[in-house]
Amino acid sequence: MTAEVQPVRSSQEEQRRVRFAHPAEEEFAAFLDFYRIAWEYEPRTFPLRWENGRVVEQFTPDFYLPEQDLFVELTTMKQSLVTRKHRKVRRLKELYPHVNIVLLYRKDYHEILSRFGYGSVDITSLRPDQIERVLLSPSEIQRRVAELGKQISEDYAGRSLVLVGVLKGITFFLADLARAITRPLAIDYLQLSRDLHEGVAIRKDLDLDIRGKHVLLVEDIVNTGLTLDFILRTLREREPASLEVCALLDKAERRLVPVPVKYVGFTLPNEFVVGYGLDYRELYRNLPFICVLKREVYESNGNGQVAQEEEGTAAVAGSSRLESVAAGAG
Ligand code: IMP
Repeated sequence: MTAEVQPVRSSQEEQRRVRFAHPAEEEFAAFLDFYRIAWEYEPRTFPLRWENGRVVEQFTPDFYLPEQDLFVELTTMKQSLVTRKHRKVRRLKELYPHVNIVLLYRKDYHEILSRFGYGSVDITSLRPDQIERVLLSPSEIQRRVAELGKQISEDYAGRSLVLVGVLKGITFFLADLARAITRPLAIDYLQLSRDLHEGVAIRKDLDLDIRGKHVLLVEDIVNTGLTLDFILRTLREREPASLEVCALLDKAERRLVPVPVKYVGFTLPNEFVVGYGLDYRELYRNLPFICVLKREVYESNGNGQVAQEEEGTAAVAGSSRLESVAAGAG
C-alpha cells in the first residue's frame, strides 16, 4: 500500500473558485498552498451583536486552517481598520471562547509558520526562497504515518515485533511510527558506511539477536534499492521469523534491484528531497516538511551532483550522494 504525493488540489481548486476581496488574501492563499497547509476562505460568520433578536453586527474571518483549527484575519497597516478589527476579534473571543483566531499583518505571515514548527527554516539557515517545492507537509506526513501504524498493528495482531531503523534518516519517522503502532515492540538500529571502493558495510550493528523474531525494517527512502537489498540479505542470514520492510518514501522509478517493500508511505517523483530526517550533507534533517531545494543550495555547497541525480544522469547505486557525503551515511 502506498500514497502518491497529491497536489494540494482542494485548496488550489478552491482558489480558482474564490473571488478574494483583497490581493493580500490571494497572496496568503498562495503562500499556504506552497507549504501545503489546508485552508478555507471565509467559511463561517460569527454573529457579534443582537438587537431585538436580530443580528446587527457580525464578523467573517478571512481564512480557516482546519489542520490547526485556527481562523486568520488579515489586516493592512491602516490604523482605523486595525482598531476596528481588534475590537471585533476581542468581541469574538469573548462570545466564542473556544474559537482560535489570530489577526495577521501581511508582514507577519511567517508568524503562522513558526506556530506550526516551521521556524526550523531559520535553524537550518535556509531561506524560504531556497525551497523549490514542499512535497509533503507535516500534517500530510503525520496522517500517513498514523495510517501505516494502524495497518502494521492490524497485520501483526497477536505478535510482537522488532523495529529496525537504518540511521540516521530514520530518526523522526521511526519515532513517530513506533508510537503509532499498538503492538509490543523493541527498537534497534543499524548504521551503514558507504565507501566508493569497498562498497556498503555495517558500521553499527544491531544490539538485539533477531533470530526467531518478527522484524520490520524501517527505511527513510528507497531509491535504487541497493542499500535495502544489502541490509535484507544481511538480516536474512540471522534467521528472523519474518522480515518485512516499511519505507516512508519510495522513488520507485529509480529502482535497480527489486526489493520487497510491504509498507510504503509515499511514492515520490525522481527528485532529491530533504527534511523530516532526510539530509543533504547532514543539513536540513530538522525541517518539519519534506521538500525539494533549489539547485543553488547544492551548488553553493560546491557540489552539483545532487542536481545531476534529479535529472537522472548520475551513475548507479545511490552513487552521487554516497560520494558526496564523505564519511557519514544515511
Ligand atoms: P538506494 O540504495 O539508492 O536505495 O539509496 C537509499 C539511501 O540513499 C537512503 O537510505 C538515503 O540515505 C539516501 N537517499 C536516496 N535518495 C535520497 C533523497 O532524495 N534525499 C536524501 N537521501 C536520499
